[in-house]
Amino acid sequence: MSARARRTVAAGISALALAGCVGRSSVLDPAGRYALSLERQWWINLGVTAAVFAIVMAVAARGVWKSRTRGGPRDEVIRPVERHERRGERIVLAALALSALLLAGLGYTDLVARRALKPVTGEPLVVKVTGHQWWWEFEYQDPLPSNAVNSPGALHLPVGRDVRLELVSHDVIHSFWVPNLTGKRDLIPGHPASLMIHATRPGTFVGECAEFCGHQHATMRFVVVCESPARFAAWRTAQSQVPPPPATAETNHGRDVFLASSCMMCHTIRGTGAASRVGPDLTHVGSRPALAGATLPNTQGHLMAWIADPQATRPGVKMPPNALDRDDLVALTAYLTSLR
Ligand code: CUA
Repeated sequence: MSARARRTVAAGISALALAGCVGRSSVLDPAGRYALSLERQWWINLGVTAAVFAIVMAVAARGVWKSRTRGGPRDEVIRPVERHERRGERIVLAALALSALLLAGLGYTDLVARRALKPVTGEPLVVKVTGHQWWWEFEYQDPLPSNAVNSPGALHLPVGRDVRLELVSHDVIHSFWVPNLTGKRDLIPGHPASLMIHATRPGTFVGECAEFCGHQHATMRFVVVCESPARFAAWRTAQSQVPPPPATAETNHGRDVFLASSCMMCHTIRGTGAASRVGPDLTHVGSRPALAGATLPNTQGHLMAWIADPQATRPGVKMPPNALDRDDLVALTAYLTSLR
């Protein structure tokens, strides 16, 4: 097996391991109010269209059966009987009326499902969502700028509260989708959009990009953590803090490596001199559930491999390889994983 094939298999196994700790990604396993109404609509559509399909197939089979069992030579010219013609007309008209009625009924249930997408629980929480090639940025606004939270790759939601997502794209068209929680919404550059989301039970789910957006579209994923309002508040408070200074000689050296290398040209770590917004904010990178578009579990080993050669995991990604010597790489990743 070639080195590239081995890396692909390893990335696949890591993704599966990651998938094991999150809920099943499915519109048929709803964990949100909006997803529940979409699921109901899905079942209605399936039931109606399956019944129509079964009836059409039964009528067609009956026609075939009758033509095969009819006596007389095969090349006999069939002359229409007026009585049969009139009966056929009535059947076609009845089928047309029934189709129109069914379509109107489906249209009505669709309208009802859409109405359920309106907010109900007072003032919603607002989160700004930015789509980048190929990662997601979630910003929790606060009147006090020092309390704002930036959480790349991980969307945290308090259960039982409406959340309004303000969606913008940094580059090309993306599409925000969390199958278990809500429908899709496109992010079109220059056209801000919004989407309501409302978790009804705790759980961890996967969100994804549902619009082809380039080389790593398929790995443009994120983790959605639905948690109790108390846990959410604790998370938000912790994320708004500036991390304490490195506690050990190794993490202290790691911070020096970070600040002396090209890392700080693209990333922010609050409390240090690094304040670039090109790549994801790393202030609390150690607390995130996953790395690299939710393709890698967040462990020091995966972080080392990712930093040394991001192209091996996600070819085409904008992060360049970093030729650090091993001790520096170990110290750097020890520092980053300590940022919780
Ligand atoms: Cu972003 Cu596909």
